[in-house]
Order: sequence, then C-alpha cells, then structure tokens
Amino acid sequence: MKLKIKNLTHDYDVNVFRDLNLELDGYQSIGIIGVSGSGKSTLLRIMSGLEQPNGGTVEINDRSVKDPFYRKTVGFVFQTHTLFPHLTLKENITLVLEKTRDIERHEASTIAEKNLERLQLLDQAHKLPKNVSGGQAQRASIARALSVNPDVVFLDEPTSSLDPILTHEVLSSIEDLKNLGKDFVFVTHVISFVRDFADYVLFMHEGNIAEHGAPSILDDPQTDALKNFMHKVR
Ligand SMILES: Nc1ncnc2c1ncn2[C@@H]1O[C@H](COP(=O)(O)OP(=O)(O)OP(=O)(O)O)[C@@H](O)[C@H]1O
Ligand SMILES: [Mg+2]
Repeated sequence: MKLKIKNLTHDYDVNVFRDLNLELDGYQSIGIIGVSGSGKSTLLRIMSGLEQPNGGTVEINDRSVKDPFYRKTVGFVFQTHTLFPHLTLKENITLVLEKTRDIERHEASTIAEKNLERLQLLDQAHKLPKNVSGGQAQRASIARALSVNPDVVFLDEPTSSLDPILTHEVLSSIEDLKNLGKDFVFVTHVISFVRDFADYVLFMHEGNIAEHGAPSILDDPQTDALKNFMHKVR
C-alpha cells in the first residue's frame, strides 16, 4: 500500500497529533505499537476514514481518507466484536451486504459463506454471537470486514478481549489472510504477531511516530521510549 500523511494535526480536549508526517510505499501489512494513550487508535481511525482529522491530509493508495468513496474500500475490526446480537453470524454479514452495498440476497449469502469458510466458521454460521466463543465471534467480525471486499483491512487490538488460546487462534486466522492480496494496518500488543505478520512497524510515543521501519527495529531500539516499551511487553 501507499501511505502519505502530511502535517496531520488532531485534538480532542487534549492534543493527540501535531504535524505528523510519514510516507510509505510498497508494504502490505503495517503494525502499530506503543503504550496506552500514545495515539494508535486515533491514527487507525483517521487512516480508515472513521474519523476526520482536524488538520493536514492523509492519503491511502492515492485517495484521500476524506473521499466518501474511500470508506467503501476499507474494512474495520474493533477490540471487541461488534456483531448484532439478535442476528446469526451469517445474517450479520448478509445484512451488511444487502443494506450497505445493495447486494441481493442470494449473492450476499454466497459471499457470507465464502468468508465464514475462510475463517473456519461455516459450521457456526447459524448461531447467534452469544452462542459462540469470543474467538469465533471475533473471527466472524473479521469475516464480515472481508465480505465487503475491502482493499485495506484495519484491525484495532483484535485480540485484547481474548484469553491466550483464543488470541493465538484469531491471530493465526489473520496470518492465513496474508495471501488475499489485501493490505492490513493493525494495532496490537502481541509482539510475536508483529514480527510474524507486519512487514513495517510504527512505534507511537506521545502522539509521534518515534521509530519506524522493518520489524527488526524491535531488536535494536534507538530511542529510550522503544527500549522501555520492549522491556514492558517482554
Ligand atoms: N474520543 C475521544 N475523546 C477525547 N479524547 C480522546 C478520544 N479518543 C482518544 N482520546 C485521547 O487521545 C489520546 C490518544 O488516544 P488513543 O485512543 O489514540 O490511544 P491508544 O494508543 O490507542 O491507547 P490504548 O492502547 O489505550 O488503546 C489519549 O490521550 C486519549 O485520552
Ligand atoms: Mg487504542
């Protein structure tokens, strides 16, 4: 993917980003790490078009994140699954396709089944979210995000609500998606997953990208901030 962040500024009641700049080209999977409050989710929401920046520009694959069409080309997976509780896993997908993409029922069903199968969930398709495991529900959220055939998939700590075994299950399902030809931008605290899945890493510290580069930067931190962070996550 191609990423261009220019003079990005963003405030809530606190300032999060002041004049953030970054240009990348040719990476498929970007991992964002950093301590709590460093701006990871804010950056992800801005990059995905979920939130508009207060100042500056962000372009992904030569399209501004402000472009309404851009929102149609991305998928987003949140910390905890956001499935509708009264719909089955499959209906959670078909409904989105029918209502937001105008895809007719039969085709929506085919697409839903294909993506549930991709996440090894076809045998759970008829169940309500409350009747599957947390890992299965989170994998269904990923299947739903993929169903709109996005160019870029954003994941914000997709396993933070899961125990270690389910975390492993979900992360290995995500790794299996590597050959889909999609781009990924993800936030995680699971450093082994960053090493396995990211081909580029952004380390956020107090609203800045304090270090960035290949995952090997984790083995040779240049800043005290990244040194301290690596101590904490180890
Ligand atoms: N909707 C909001 N309203 C007000 N302040 C916010 C909002 N979202 C984030 N912030 C503030 O912006 C800063 C960056 O938050 P952000 O959620 O991006 O951090 P993060 O790195 O994702 O943290 P975590 O690891 O805890 O998820 C923090 O100071 C946070 O309190
Ligand atoms: Mg966050």
